[in-house]
Amino acid sequence: MAEQTSWTEPPADYPAAIRALKRRLRAQIGDVDAVFARIEARLTPRVDEIVVLKERGEEVWPIVEFTDVAAGTVPQEVVDRIHRRGCAVVRGQVAAEVATGWDQSLVDYLDANDFMSAYRGPADDFFGNLDASKPEIYPIYWSAAQMEARQHENTAAVQSFLNSLWKNESRGVTWFDPDQDSMYPDRIRRRPPGANSSGLGGHTDSGSVERWLTPAYQQVFEQIWNGDVDAYDPWDAAHRTEVDEFPSSTMCSVFRSFQGWLAMSEMRRDQGVLWTVPIPDAMMYLLVRPLLADVPEDSLCGAEQGKALGLSEQWHPLLWKAQAGIPDVRPGDSVWWHSDLIHGVAAVQDQQGWGNVIYIPAAPMCAKNAAYAQDVAERFRRGESPADFPKEDYEAEWGNRFGESQLNEIGRRGLGLSAGSAPAARQATARQR
Ligand SMILES: [Fe+2]
Repeated sequence: MAEQTSWTEPPADYPAAIRALKRRLRAQIGDVDAVFARIEARLTPRVDEIVVLKERGEEVWPIVEFTDVAAGTVPQEVVDRIHRRGCAVVRGQVAAEVATGWDQSLVDYLDANDFMSAYRGPADDFFGNLDASKPEIYPIYWSAAQMEARQHENTAAVQSFLNSLWKNESRGVTWFDPDQDSMYPDRIRRRPPGANSSGLGGHTDSGSVERWLTPAYQQVFEQIWNGDVDAYDPWDAAHRTEVDEFPSSTMCSVFRSFQGWLAMSEMRRDQGVLWTVPIPDAMMYLLVRPLLADVPEDSLCGAEQGKALGLSEQWHPLLWKAQAGIPDVRPGDSVWWHSDLIHGVAAVQDQQGWGNVIYIPAAPMCAKNAAYAQDVAERFRRGESPADFPKEDYEAEWGNRFGESQLNEIGRRGLGLSAGSAPAARQATARQR
């Protein structure tokens, strides 16, 4: 009988599962050393390009003006740069006064409910394997500020623009609707002036061991496992919407085309901010590296179930050099990165100013995201934590939560409460990368 080499449920015996998987992948790839050399050859010029830009003090992150997104006039060279880097800053997604107004209303919401005395501290250990400070990420989901930001028409316009950078039709399937997002409520980060933080080590979201072990991810990365790394396109959505992560206290049940956040305060580039390794194809390196002979046979270079997939100086030295921080951002700017992108947070001592963000990804509608949105709608009504996060439910008894009657059409559609997406679905077939 053929050995099991893909798992829809977590394997009972990880070391045995990883050994079996490596045997299959090596047989499938052929000459692993030659394929890894090709990956290095493809990535090295990209890394060098970023190192040079950093040395010259030039901007690595593509910057998009929201006015261009709204008018459909984002220059092609900017689109090309986002494809190359896998990340972008959108300037002025909402006016600075709107963002700082939301920031204040969030503080009022927390104060009115005496949140800081009720708060019991972080309930998950998702980043326990990384170098990390207390994250100052709070499990608040249903404030008016967050909901208004999520259902804002400018947010929807940016999500639609970003979704359309993906190839959403391939292998004869339409994988998602780029013009209709599902609402994915996430938490807030508030880091006060004077904060000392050792940051957060480099990692990727959206699965760790799952990226090797699950059948859907094995199809996402099919060309890599066939040794045809030049055919691999990180922007092809094929099978991405079929990925199911293994259950854990902090997981992601939806397909996110981009992870992102909206700035609620001014953040200077040297104040402990987000960085990425801005090379979407770098995932090839993370995936194939564990197959080399110097890695223990039952190791995936540190990947563990239920923990973020970490970047390691030991195993990924080439990528380590390409870390690139965001530019200075103002309230109302938004920051986005492709769901495969390695990212982390820099350290800071005596932080100047606040570091406040609302996490809002782009999660285009597909069957998987619609199913989660339906559950989210129920949690929203009850003020509970969304299912992907630890069940803390701080807001369940708070009287000033954002209410169902305050939803606009974007909010209702994002929660699957309104069937108004027919025109968007038609456009979906015409939009290609
Ligand atoms: Fe992350």
